[in-house]
Amino acid sequence: MQTVDIIRKKRNGGELTAEEIQFLIKGFAKDEIPDYQMAAWAMAVFFRGMSDRETADLTLAMVESGEQVDLSQIEGRKVDKHSTGGVGDTTTLIVAPLVASAGVPVAKLSGRGLGHTGGTIDKLESFRGFTTGLSTEQFVKQVNELKIAVAGQTANLTPADKQLYALRDVTATVDSIPLIASSIMSKKIAGGADAIVLDVKTGKGAFMKDEESAVQLAEAMVGIGSRVGRQTVAVISDMNQPLGYAVGNALEVKEAIDTLQGRGPDDLTELSLTLGAHMVVLAGKTDSVTEARGLLEGKLKDGSALAKFKEFVEAQGGDPRAVDQTDLLPTVSRQVEVPAPEDGTIAQLEAEEIGLCAMQLGAGRATKEDRIDHAVGIVLHKKVGDVVSRGEAIATLHVNDESKVKAVQNRLLQAVTITKERIVPPRQIRSIVT
Ligand code: URA
Ligand code: CA
Repeated sequence: MQTVDIIRKKRNGGELTAEEIQFLIKGFAKDEIPDYQMAAWAMAVFFRGMSDRETADLTLAMVESGEQVDLSQIEGRKVDKHSTGGVGDTTTLIVAPLVASAGVPVAKLSGRGLGHTGGTIDKLESFRGFTTGLSTEQFVKQVNELKIAVAGQTANLTPADKQLYALRDVTATVDSIPLIASSIMSKKIAGGADAIVLDVKTGKGAFMKDEESAVQLAEAMVGIGSRVGRQTVAVISDMNQPLGYAVGNALEVKEAIDTLQGRGPDDLTELSLTLGAHMVVLAGKTDSVTEARGLLEGKLKDGSALAKFKEFVEAQGGDPRAVDQTDLLPTVSRQVEVPAPEDGTIAQLEAEEIGLCAMQLGAGRATKEDRIDHAVGIVLHKKVGDVVSRGEAIATLHVNDESKVKAVQNRLLQAVTITKERIVPPRQIRSIVT
């Protein structure tokens, strides 16, 4: 088999066989196929696309390029949750203990934040002492005992995806639906999940700016899941404005705790219950989403979801007292309000820009090596559709580095649009793809 023939076939719009795809991915992972050939192939895929069958074969080839997490020692159906990346998105901190409190095993591999989006591990490390460095044995044991564990990725999962993603990043071939779908799904499958619930974001702060391409991406991923025997459901959700009010690590932990106490923001609560309900159904705990949702609402009301969160924090070395006394979490030296420049209704709160404002305050990383400040960030007081008066606070900046205040205040105001027209708040859940 010759690499050039495979590139030509795809360039001419042909459908590659499973063997051809395996040859390509294996060769690339072993550095036998050079970057320039792989880049040419990626560009051919960008223009020609891939069939559902090719996309599933590409996913499996990438899964087989590295280790696969064996979760077979965990009792029950393991359902993973994945988000395509949002701003102020603390749903994992809510959904994981929530569904665990309903008896569904949650074995979650999570990452750190980069750029305008945050990461679950960074948020959890707001608890002093919290560790995600669990061995596979500890991870499995904790899920069997508590139904919940969150670990950083230690195993060498999908190295071919890492290599291909780096190449796509510099060859303008990231935004291809089959390449994105296979990249995301390969990591979930290698992580050992039996079933997967995806939160596919759409809007200004999302990877997929328009709803139609978000649905296409969701359909591609659900299609891969069904072809490889891992049932997958996708929730299409709004990411034009940040989720909830808080953006920043400890601030989002507090928001998650509020939500676990049943008094969180409406959008965050709605999304958490929707994602959680689909996880409960896929785990086989209830027959219908409606029934699952009722079960989870009960767990928020009776305190079991919050109690589960506390147990989980303690099991992974964090200070559980901070769950009840959130003033034990990292706090800032100064809070600065951002006043509205005029009367009107909030028409836009651009998620990506607000995420970048939080990053500029120190809540996120511009490069992988940057250290983050868990205490800093932004708390919004208004959301799209809310009325404001001139001088009223739209947001509060939580700051430790005084020198950044002016620039971030100005940047934040640029991200806000105020109008005299009536604005209907966006629907958080756009559709469900099964
Ligand atoms: N996220 C991924 O993991 N892979 C992609 O290709 C795009 C976004
Ligand atoms: Ca939030």
